[in-house]
Amino acid sequence: MCGIVGYVGQRDAAPILLEGLRRLEYRGYDSAGIALITSEGKVFIEKKAGKLTNLTDHLNGETPAGSPGIAHTRWATHGRPTDLNAHPHTDCTGKLALIHNGIIENYAEVKRRLAGSGHDFSSDTDTEVLVHLIEEHYAGDLVEAVRRALNDVRGAYAIGVMHADHPDRIVGARMNVPLIVGLGDGEGFLASDVPAILDHTKNVVILQEGDIADVTAAGTRIIDLDGSTVEREVTRIRWSIEAAEKGGFPHFTLKEIYEQPHAIQEALRARVDGYGNVSLVELDAIEAKLKRVERVYVVGCGTARYAGEVGAYLIQEWAGLPASSQIGSEMRYSPPPLDDRTLVISVSQSGETADTLAPQKLAAGRGATIVVVTNVVGSAITREADAVCYLQAGPEVAVASTKAFVTQVVVLQMIALHLARLRGTLSARQLHSFGLALRELPSQTAETLKLAPQIKKLARRWTDVRSVMFIGRALGYPIAMEGALKLKELSYVHAEGYAAGELKHGPIALLDPNTPLVAIATRGATYEKVVSNIAEVRAREAPVVAVATVGDEEIAHYAQDVFYVPETLEPMSAVVAMLPLQLLAYEVAVARGTDVDQPRNLAKSVTVE
Ligand code: AGP
Repeated sequence: MCGIVGYVGQRDAAPILLEGLRRLEYRGYDSAGIALITSEGKVFIEKKAGKLTNLTDHLNGETPAGSPGIAHTRWATHGRPTDLNAHPHTDCTGKLALIHNGIIENYAEVKRRLAGSGHDFSSDTDTEVLVHLIEEHYAGDLVEAVRRALNDVRGAYAIGVMHADHPDRIVGARMNVPLIVGLGDGEGFLASDVPAILDHTKNVVILQEGDIADVTAAGTRIIDLDGSTVEREVTRIRWSIEAAEKGGFPHFTLKEIYEQPHAIQEALRARVDGYGNVSLVELDAIEAKLKRVERVYVVGCGTARYAGEVGAYLIQEWAGLPASSQIGSEMRYSPPPLDDRTLVISVSQSGETADTLAPQKLAAGRGATIVVVTNVVGSAITREADAVCYLQAGPEVAVASTKAFVTQVVVLQMIALHLARLRGTLSARQLHSFGLALRELPSQTAETLKLAPQIKKLARRWTDVRSVMFIGRALGYPIAMEGALKLKELSYVHAEGYAAGELKHGPIALLDPNTPLVAIATRGATYEKVVSNIAEVRAREAPVVAVATVGDEEIAHYAQDVFYVPETLEPMSAVVAMLPLQLLAYEVAVARGTDVDQPRNLAKSVTVE
């Protein structure tokens, strides 16, 4: 939700921190701030509401020399996005500075207590209590003061702390929110995510819940909340910095749309062989549990939930298990039956979404088997899992999810095939043909991307459109919902995705010549029914765009625009049909001049409920 970065070493901290913030801005952009200890031993601090450029314009390249330093980019939770509420926050002495991602749940009570003992607060944030709490506990040992303070708070945090009297260190700590330590040559880093420090080191330690890291130029020592030293392994990051950069595309969103053929290839790597055998070794250790499963829930939020709809549909169809998709933020209010015969599959690109973590915890507590589908290694969601299937899609930086969606669908398809094999519900021939169809997806999605010029032309006609309806049946329905979500997020055009059969039960009243309809009409069992729905729409003079299978000439009688996608087996059409809708949302957004990579009001990972 917020991004934090810290540096300690011989170099000047400011340029390293500002560049780190630039790479973390996808995590929130309500304000940005930096603090460092100058060569004269003073604490320099500057922070500005709004995007990072507000801060850098204000600094105008004039940052003092010195190290260590910490910096922050904010997605507001407590307190409006103002200069005062921006991080870093300082204590009463002005010597101690702190940045924070997360929420301190008992901040009100702690604030009252600290105010009563004379602490002055200058912001409306929950974060500020932490810096005063550390000040309260400080008696010359910064790490110990941080440890004691953290024992007084509840909630979620990744923090970076520095003190003018300790110019040789920064202290980081983590609880339910990501934080890594970067190990450089004679220097150390803290960051919410790898891209922030990848220019400087590829060796990182992924901190675990309750870890407190004392980071110095000479090395890092990690203790737990009780003060005992803990050992954590060093992970070597294999991404290049280019992978985390735009790579020549005007936006990360477009870059990630174009990365999809490769991302799918990576998701399939070592999981589907040339004969179409699908095997997820990640699930081998829980084979006995999976064989006992009697029902399945696929849990996620937003885009991940729509991928979950596809997954649940195919698990039911292929593995013959009752399966449904669950909205993460709703599941706990009326939990479905959960026991040791239940499989819960949590789907989350970031692995940090609080609304998905909470029902997962509930299900784990009731004995369900938990399989996690995520992109981020070591993320919170992986902690309480019986098995983890990574997307292997590479970092997704754009706030609107694209390559994560298609790889989530592909990984869920492999899980469904894996379950079908274990349960003997599909024949060997069926299993192989679906496996081989999966292997075609990288080239078929690459082919689909050639629609870009046609889509761009259409998008130019849609600059003034106020509302768009998306419809689909069976697997086309979640694709319609995800298509509508993409258009909303990226272009701020109102859009809704409906089950095509529902149209005549109400939503058709919204259609008129100025309200286009996008229909998922790829070949499959429901094709003719979708065509009938399109005919009903044409009779109301609403413009129709169809996503159809190459070679389908009939559809052109009903739709003014047709995006032809390659022919696949029906279950795989969910993947190829998605790409034109992503491109459409992207091009409409560009034509309307919105902030494509960081749409207003959104954050990449939502770590609050
Ligand atoms: C997608 O474009 C979103 N911005 C959003 O719906 C996202 O998919 C959702 O917040 C879940 O995120 P996660 O996959 O990281 O859990």
